[in-house]
Amino acid sequence: MRWIGCCTVLGIAIAAAGCQSGPELSESAQRGMKTYFQICIACHNAKPSLDGLGPPIARSSRALIEARVVYGTYPAGYQPKRKSFAMPAFPNLAGNVDDLAAYLAECCPAKK
Ligand code: HEC
Repeated sequence: MRWIGCCTVLGIAIAAAGCQSGPELSESAQRGMKTYFQICIACHNAKPSLDGLGPPIARSSRALIEARVVYGTYPAGYQPKRKSFAMPAFPNLAGNVDDLAAYLAECCPAKK
């Protein structure tokens, strides 16, 4: 019985998060998830820890997300996963960086 209950809860969480999240996302991460599925999903994998047109970005630091998304650059000394510059900057998302960082941190526990 306990096992069934657990699966039901997990199933709802997975459905709500588009198949890539753990059961509990913070409110900030839920907002970030919306942005991710509106914009980033065009190129990045629905599961942010996997490769897509763009590289995996799960657990990216806030500094990296801000630099790459808002300014189209990388933090000083950061070794980019790809050498291309196919991704445009989204300066309009400056206010969404915290939420995106929360989502990318919470979406995919390490080793998945
Ligand atoms: C038009 C396709 C496209 C969209 C839309 C896009 N990306 Fe990217 N992203 C890429 C590609 C391709 C790269 C690899 C570098 C490059 O070519 O610009 C990348 C690289 C990145 C990196 C750097 C990864 C690393 O460690 O080197 C981050 C972080 C990132 N994207 C986050 C996002 C976020 C967050 C969004 C949504 C707000 C987003 N991207 C939307 C295509 C995209």
